[in-house]
Amino acid sequence: MSDYPQAGYFDRKRSASYERRATRLLGGLYRLVASDVAAFAPPGGVVLDVGTGPGRLLHAIAARRADLVLGGVDLSADMVDIARAGAPSSRITFQVADVASLPYSDDSVDVVVSTLSMHEWPDRRRAVAELGRVLRPGGALLVYDFRFARIDRESFSGFADVRRVPVRPKWWPAPLFAKITASVS
Ligand SMILES: C[S@@+](CC[C@H](N)C(=O)[O-])C[C@H]1O[C@@H](n2cnc3c(N)ncnc32)[C@H](O)[C@@H]1O
Repeated sequence: MSDYPQAGYFDRKRSASYERRATRLLGGLYRLVASDVAAFAPPGGVVLDVGTGPGRLLHAIAARRADLVLGGVDLSADMVDIARAGAPSSRITFQVADVASLPYSDDSVDVVVSTLSMHEWPDRRRAVAELGRVLRPGGALLVYDFRFARIDRESFSGFADVRRVPVRPKWWPAPLFAKITASVS
């Protein structure tokens, strides 16, 4: 039986290994997503990265927009330790939390972003509803995941302008990723 709350949990060893691979392979994806976030976030806005892992996406966003308040949450305490240790500035805060129960109040976030995490959420409908709860009216949801990840469109029924398009970061030979964008009306 697993010692961890769910299958595939990122323990210390797996988190450290993921951080090394992500740093080497995913810089192009993080830069692409950071540009999208920078385009959506209002001046001084609050950005939340859900399933932040080692937090590298938030580094890329911080490099583009010095005005934003940046937070990351992850289910794995080991990932959060790695993210905190690598944070380039105290402007980025990291917390241990499940996507289904975020430590943010209603209508408090301008942009919720997530990369390569949604396919691991056990109850996507509940998770996406929780993302909608913390987003303020007019806020943006940007979710990037593998193209093969199954999407239940019903999960996004509470959002407006829902779109799903393939994404190919520079130098990637094929569009392995897809992004879902949506807004809160
Ligand atoms: C493949 S990693 C992606 C990390 C990071 N977003 C990136 O793009 O490098 C998936 C992350 O999602 C986190 N995760 C999985 N289920 C979660 C949940 N229910 N709530 C919060 N985070 C979760 C995992 O702990 C892991 O750090």
